[in-house]
Amino acid sequence: MAEQDLTRELKMVTDSAQPVCQRGGKSFLNLSSNNYLGLAGHPQLADAMGQAMSRGAGSPSSRLIVGHEEETDQLESELANWQSSEAALVFGNGYMANVGVLSALLRREDAVFSDRLNHASIVDGIRLSGATHFRYRHRDLDHLEICLKKADEKGTRRKLIVTDAVFSMDGDVAPLQDMVYLKERYGAALFVDEAHSVGVIGVQGKGLAHELGIADQVDLHMGTFSKAFGVYGAYVTGKREWIRYLIHTARSFIYTTALPPVVISAIRRSLQLVQQRSVLRQSLSGKCHYFREGLSQAGFRLTDSTTPIIPIMLGDSSRTLEFSQRLAERGILAVAIRPPTVPNGEARIRFSLMANHREEDLREAIRTIVQIGYECKVIG
Ligand SMILES: Cc1ncc(COP(=O)(O)O)c(C=O)c1O
Repeated sequence: MAEQDLTRELKMVTDSAQPVCQRGGKSFLNLSSNNYLGLAGHPQLADAMGQAMSRGAGSPSSRLIVGHEEETDQLESELANWQSSEAALVFGNGYMANVGVLSALLRREDAVFSDRLNHASIVDGIRLSGATHFRYRHRDLDHLEICLKKADEKGTRRKLIVTDAVFSMDGDVAPLQDMVYLKERYGAALFVDEAHSVGVIGVQGKGLAHELGIADQVDLHMGTFSKAFGVYGAYVTGKREWIRYLIHTARSFIYTTALPPVVISAIRRSLQLVQQRSVLRQSLSGKCHYFREGLSQAGFRLTDSTTPIIPIMLGDSSRTLEFSQRLAERGILAVAIRPPTVPNGEARIRFSLMANHREEDLREAIRTIVQIGYECKVIG
């Protein structure tokens, strides 16, 4: 790995969720966090956690052993209401939700259709399930349709299409409306991972499927509380009987300790903020537009991103590492994303923005990134 510039280091940082963080006694503009709405440091979340502390710092067991507190029930009904779904189930985190749902729903006789750039937790859930895995080309629905036809010819028992709503390393969005058409045409189910879209996209931050008006046709929705919500944990929503089935079969739900009361309380408070604070979404969207335009006009190769995840494509891993090191030397924290997180030859610097970034800091950051772009001969 070292020979290929693929080793990684764990680094210590202070104020990791803030727009400006500290590392090794130096301040950095944080362009790497998923704390999109800036809620991770919100005093109301700290207040909610403080109030719940009297109920203990941890949970006693899996929910199926001792049971759960009233607040968990309240949270799950609030989530179901917010998503206009029949029911919701809270998981330990997004990774566990994806692994649990996919390994519970799919068997060897089934087929699963997954975008080539879906998150690693989706890939792992599929591997665990043993179902036939069709990886279709990124956002390529002609290819998806060919795969659906192939599965029918093989006499597959059941079919499930799974996709990220916003792709975590590219920042572009899935063509969900056309996917709904295909799922209906081929009698498949659809599972959408809204990890990077809830809180950020749509009225009350309900996510991409709601924004496109097709939420009802998605069989299962998943979202995480670790990004725009600024807390930790995840949820799945859908029909009551699907959720009941998951309670009985999702091993990453059954065989693990429930989230602690302090975390459940913070998530509930964050859910209120996410629904109310459309002003944060507007501010974030304006900043993303400005940042994307600045980099694109300077000549960087961007993806089709329309979200706060804004990568510049550099291709080669060592060049990308050098770019990231130069950024760090000039006070900007933006990590080099290299294989295996992205395909070979597609290394990149992935910037992500927050609603509470200061406009003058972003303006200065663009200037620095462009300068380094010239120095590294990425732009001409
Ligand atoms: C698309 C996607 N799904 C799932 C996850 C996992 O969520 P969590 O961090 O809550 O485990 C992530 C990121 O971490 C993600 O980007």
